[in-house]
Amino acid sequence: MPQLSQPHLLGIKNLTARDIELIFETADNFKNIINQPIKKVPALRDVTVANVFFENSTRTRISFELAEKRLSADIVNFSASSSSVKKGETLLDTVNNILAMKVDMVVMRHASPGAPHFLSRHIKASVINAGDGTHEHPTQALLDAYSIREKLGAIEGKKVVLIGDILHSRVALSNIFALKKLGAEVKVCGPPTLLPRHIRNLGIDVELNLRKALEWCDVANILRIQLERQQLRYFPSLREYALYYGINLSLLNSLNKKITIMHPGPINRGVELSSDAADSAHSIILDQVENGVAIRMAVLYLLAGKQA
Ligand code: CP
Repeated sequence: MPQLSQPHLLGIKNLTARDIELIFETADNFKNIINQPIKKVPALRDVTVANVFFENSTRTRISFELAEKRLSADIVNFSASSSSVKKGETLLDTVNNILAMKVDMVVMRHASPGAPHFLSRHIKASVINAGDGTHEHPTQALLDAYSIREKLGAIEGKKVVLIGDILHSRVALSNIFALKKLGAEVKVCGPPTLLPRHIRNLGIDVELNLRKALEWCDVANILRIQLERQQLRYFPSLREYALYYGINLSLLNSLNKKITIMHPGPINRGVELSSDAADSAHSIILDQVENGVAIRMAVLYLLAGKQA
C-alpha cells in the first residue's frame, strides 16, 4: 500500500510533491465514494480518532468528524472551552489522558504555533495539525490546491494570488508551500502592514495593487482579516480596507479575463469579499468545503496505514 513520507501531518513544509499527489489520488477515490448513496467504507474500523480543539472551528472540525465517520472510525471530540484545561491542566496531560483511553490518532487545533509538533514528539499516536496559530493549516492548503486542480485541470503553471492578511494567516503559509511544490506561480497581495517582511524569501512575488494582482492571476485566494490575532492597528478602518483590498462582483466583471475566487472561510462579508462576489459564478468556495471531506478522509486513511 502506498504511504506518506511522514508519520504525522504537521505541515506542508515537510511533505514531498509525491505525498501531495498521493493524497489527491486517494481523495479522488473517496470523493467518488461520498457521492454514492452509501457514503461509508470500513477502512478505519477499529481505529479511534480524537478531535482535540483548543481554538474555535466550524468547517475543519465538522469536516474531520464527517471524514472519520465516512471511514467508520470511532471518534472522541474534545473542546478546550468545556474541559479541565479551564482548571489548569497542561496540553500534554490532557492528551496523555485521552491516549490512555486507547486513541490511535489525534487531530489538533491550537492557538500556539508548534503545538502539534510538540505533541508529536511526546506521544505514539499519529498527529494531524488542524491549524496551529499563525503557522500552518495543512489540510486547508491541500483542499485548496485540490479544488484548483479540479477547476482548472492542473496546478503546474497556474498563477495564484493570495490576498489580504498574509501576516496572521496559517492558510497563506501552507498554501505557498503546497502551490510551489506543485509548480504554480504564487504572488501575495495586501497592505504592506499585513505582509511579512521576508515573504519574498519563500520564492514568491509581492503585488501591492489589487487590480494588477487580479489581472495577473488565474485564481485569487482571498484571506480573512484576522482581527482576533491583531495586537496593533494594521490599517485605518475596515471601510478603508474594503475600499482598497475588498473584492466585489463589479471589480471581477471589469477584469480583462474571468478568474476563479476562493476563500477558506469564515468570510467577513463586506470586508475582504462582498456577498455578490462570494456567491457568484467566479466562486468555488463551497466546492472547497465539499473537497475538504475527501481530502481529510485521504489524510486519515494514509496515516492510519490500513487496507481499505
Ligand atoms: N477554514 C477554516 O479553518 O475554518 P474553521 O476555522 O471554521 O475551521
